[in-house]
Amino acid sequence: EGSDQPPGNKWSFSGPFGKFDRGALQRGLKVYKEVCASCHGLSYVAFRNLAEPGGPGYSVAQAAAFASEYKLKDGPNDAGDMFERAGRPADYFPSPFPNEQAARAANGGAAPPDLSLITKARSYKRGFPWFVFDFFSQYQEQGPDYVSAVLQGFDDHVPEGVTIPEGSYYNKYFPGHAIKMPKPLSDGQVTYDDGSPATVAQYAKDVTTFLMWTAEPHMEARKRLGFQVFVFLILFAGLMYFTKKKVWADSH
Ligand code: HEM
Repeated sequence: EGSDQPPGNKWSFSGPFGKFDRGALQRGLKVYKEVCASCHGLSYVAFRNLAEPGGPGYSVAQAAAFASEYKLKDGPNDAGDMFERAGRPADYFPSPFPNEQAARAANGGAAPPDLSLITKARSYKRGFPWFVFDFFSQYQEQGPDYVSAVLQGFDDHVPEGVTIPEGSYYNKYFPGHAIKMPKPLSDGQVTYDDGSPATVAQYAKDVTTFLMWTAEPHMEARKRLGFQVFVFLILFAGLMYFTKKKVWADSH
């Protein structure tokens, strides 16, 4: 058992003023669609979300066009039949497997987890009293650091003393080192049209940024409001100070 500590990254979304890198979100969506979606669902994300503020920055028309590239099962219709139709903005990303048994059967017994919330699910939670320190640490980045590390942690060379069972793959950062996900990314696999490098490191960074957004689509609004609350409290504290001085001016 055991895993190595994932290396830290510089994420555009970290810190109290962090924002999502729009380009990274759009590239990460492409990586998800072309690579991850064959095994992993994204079932909490609807196509319309792609056009919402604080996200990848697509227009409503672009999100609708993106949705229409999908063929989704629907029905039954009035005749009682199931049918296929093009995706609409209100639809959610389709899952690659009809149920968990099918997902397990296709992946050597391990179901690929839905990725909607994975960057949050892989933050290691600490109990009382240590969570107090998490508030001041880079807690927000643990999940993304881990996801990006797992995507880059595959190695054909298995270190001495580690045994990998048939159907599993060595991964430096997966707990226990034997993962049932085959190395999903390799250089040149996804074509970027904005000149970003077509490397595993870049794919991992982009898809992880995208998955951070799927897990917290309103992060930018949350941070903006949090800042406004701080500004308000400082101004309000000043007002209260002068109010107090005036109210108590005559008392000695
Ligand atoms: C597990 C991400 C592509 C099959 C995982 C995990 C993550 C992940 C974060 C969870 C690791 C954990 O439990 O801590 C991704 C991303 C992909 C991708 C971002 C695209 C870049 C794929 C593909 C397949 C696949 C193409 C199938 C061929 C699996 C399976 C597991 C898994 C079977 C469960 C592994 C186990 O529990 O041993 N993936 N994945 N993944 N993935 Fe992927």
